[in-house]
Amino acid sequence: MRYFPIYVDLKDARVLVVGGGEQAAQKIRLLLKTDAQINVVTAGVGEEIDAELLELEGTGQILISRRDFRSTDLDGVQLVYVTTGDDVLDDQVSKEAKARAVPVNVVDKPALCTFITPAIVDRDPVIVAIGTEGAAPVLAREIKAKLEAWLPANYGTLARSAAKLRDEVRRRIGDGRTRRSIWERLFSGPFRKAILSGDDAAAKQHFEQLLVDNQEKAGGIGSVALIGCGPGDPDLLTLKAQQRLQTADVLVIDRLVNPAILDYARRDATRIYVGKTPGKPSTGQLEINRILVREALKGKQVARLKGGDPFVFGRAGEELTALQALDVPVEIVPGITAAHACAAAINLPLTMRERNRLFSILTGATADGIAEHDWQTLARANEGFAIYMGVRAAGGIRGKLIEAGIDLETPVVIVENGTLPEERSVETNIGNLDRCIADCGIRGPAIIFVGLNWARLGLSRPGKVEVFDGDGGGHVVPLDAHRLASKSAG
Ligand SMILES: C[S@@+](CC[C@H](N)C(=O)[O-])C[C@H]1O[C@@H](n2cnc3c(N)ncnc32)[C@H](O)[C@@H]1O
Repeated sequence: MRYFPIYVDLKDARVLVVGGGEQAAQKIRLLLKTDAQINVVTAGVGEEIDAELLELEGTGQILISRRDFRSTDLDGVQLVYVTTGDDVLDDQVSKEAKARAVPVNVVDKPALCTFITPAIVDRDPVIVAIGTEGAAPVLAREIKAKLEAWLPANYGTLARSAAKLRDEVRRRIGDGRTRRSIWERLFSGPFRKAILSGDDAAAKQHFEQLLVDNQEKAGGIGSVALIGCGPGDPDLLTLKAQQRLQTADVLVIDRLVNPAILDYARRDATRIYVGKTPGKPSTGQLEINRILVREALKGKQVARLKGGDPFVFGRAGEELTALQALDVPVEIVPGITAAHACAAAINLPLTMRERNRLFSILTGATADGIAEHDWQTLARANEGFAIYMGVRAAGGIRGKLIEAGIDLETPVVIVENGTLPEERSVETNIGNLDRCIADCGIRGPAIIFVGLNWARLGLSRPGKVEVFDGDGGGHVVPLDAHRLASKSAG
């Protein structure tokens, strides 16, 4: 970061704008949002003054001096904008401002500036400043447009109402942590809705209710949110998951949770890592249950972060039982499960009208080895299924399915590290399943789709999917080479 973002108090401050053209008008339009006293000095006696500035002069909002710039114009000035476009004058004002340590911005000349003005989303007193250090103003505009659409025009009223209530909340609630939790609830519940819809009476009622409820449960226990963090790509996090992350005091984190997702959490939240790596010593489930209960009983808001969806091979059921046994409030925040995300990543529909009407998910492994399933039904069914935790058990799974009579040509698609930068996908068939995994060096996490491929569904396979061609000596063949090879063989 080269430019450090700060907000400058311009109440009654003097701001100098050198130049009286259109560029000056643009800067002044922004400056007029503040209480600054704005003085314009023209870029010489003859400069034609922008019509907008003449109007502002007429209403007394700015002062215009129709003469050349003088060093004394910088006396008592807190910021200076230079908009003349005249190289010599721009350079002179920049040098003099720098010599007096007055922050200076020269339009379109970054080398002469000591500050730059960000793109602004104005929901006064909530002001969002967006900067790209001049690298890509288009990106700043894109972010601005998104924020403008996302933040209601009267968003600032929320902040203003908070400012009015701040003293009262401080007086009635002594504990800082409880105060923060009250603010979080005010800003996310019916109080917020009432303020944004302009219903001040209802807002006051919700405010009182929240404070009374809080007094009743003072000294009470916290809560736990079992949060599905999706397969890895932070963009696949739900809004609810983001909100819970932002308000949690304690994060209890699984192995498959992408560290980038923790950026959504408070920096001061306590982090407890409880990742379970297959085949390695790790925190046991009972210990995890104990941690969740212990932290909630201390009154903490706990976020239990899990990969994918908490209710899909996530052991959330056991955590839910342990917490409910002690009446700890629990909330389940669903996430995108790996099979859904991996299928989406490779354009592979899990069901398709008139083609397959059933899709199952199953685990390939349990703590004791290969999971038990009705392999006969799975082998016979002309439907698709996804195997979680199947990489290490692939040889055994293949054996079970062959024993149950599956067609060796049944398609298999494996997606490793789905949605992460290191994502990889390979198509093969059940006969080659474990050889493909070994030869391709797939270590997981991976989803193994069985009985689904693009040809079966009348779709084309995406170019990024490799093909493991067992007949061709067990090599991974990129799609184009695979096509050529099958053409020449045919
Ligand atoms: C303990 S299970 C957790 C599943 C998780 N609750 C879910 O809904 O996706 C772990 C298994 O999920 C699958 N998995 C998780 N993240 C994955 C990813 N990014 N790509 C492929 N498979 C993934 C793998 O099969 C892995 O062995």
